[in-house]
Amino acid sequence: MKIRVPATSANLGPGFDSCGIALSQYLSIEIIKDTETWEIQHSLGEDIPKDETNLLLQTALTVNPKLSPKLLKMTSDIPLARGLGSSSSVIVAGIELANRLGGMHLSQKDKVQIATEMEGHPDNVAPAICGDFVVASYVDGEVRYVKHHFPMCDVIAYVPDHELLTQESRSVLPQSMAYQEAVQASSIANVMIAAILNGNLPLAGVMMEKDRWHEAHRDHLVPHLKTIRDMAHVLGVYGAFLSGAGPTVLVLSPEEKTDQMIQELEKLPGKASIHLLSVDQEGVQVF
Ligand code: HSE
Repeated sequence: MKIRVPATSANLGPGFDSCGIALSQYLSIEIIKDTETWEIQHSLGEDIPKDETNLLLQTALTVNPKLSPKLLKMTSDIPLARGLGSSSSVIVAGIELANRLGGMHLSQKDKVQIATEMEGHPDNVAPAICGDFVVASYVDGEVRYVKHHFPMCDVIAYVPDHELLTQESRSVLPQSMAYQEAVQASSIANVMIAAILNGNLPLAGVMMEKDRWHEAHRDHLVPHLKTIRDMAHVLGVYGAFLSGAGPTVLVLSPEEKTDQMIQELEKLPGKASIHLLSVDQEGVQVF
């Protein structure tokens, strides 16, 4: 059995802690055989545990403590601590592992609820489970979510070589916001979502860049965001925004402008990798 979970991009600008899309990079977990103790084979770096302290097994054993040990193989092309949902992908894989090995028959809603409780917000885990574009709320301990098709476009990820931990990127956010500002911030998100549902990416892209919840507070941590946004405007692509808590920036582009946008991104002085992705429509898969 093999479990595959997509990368995700949370927020899409103004959909802070609520909106997300699944992307075409993946974490894969393969079950190799029964063993005496849990073991994970991987080549993802020395810092990632290979025993029960790995987030994958912590998650799986929290969901179902009775699972019997296995040898697993973990591979991933989702970069760590870059704002592309790497830890959410591991949590989602852990829940699916417990679900399948323990014969739990969890529904999609059960998985989204459990994953959100573990992660703290639904905007990465919900699209990692459902695929495509998901809008979710997590209020009074209950998750409610809607999945919808995201309009066709290219997704260019500018992934800086340095990490930015979500905890650090959340520590710069304010504790409160004036009522009128919150009303405006909410209206911007509402129009962005409605434009996506209508397939109107030019308008969605404009609204994605008008976030009032988080990007301005984070801009000193991600100085490349403004530069990329300026480039995006010159080329006339749909829009550019911080992916989750950063430092990755996503650019949504019509196919005919993608090559030119990538060429411009390659000229930037910072160390980064550039990936041409698409929206994953499936979410977590078991083969
Ligand atoms: N909505 C979250 C944030 C995503 O921006 O902090 C990262 O987990």
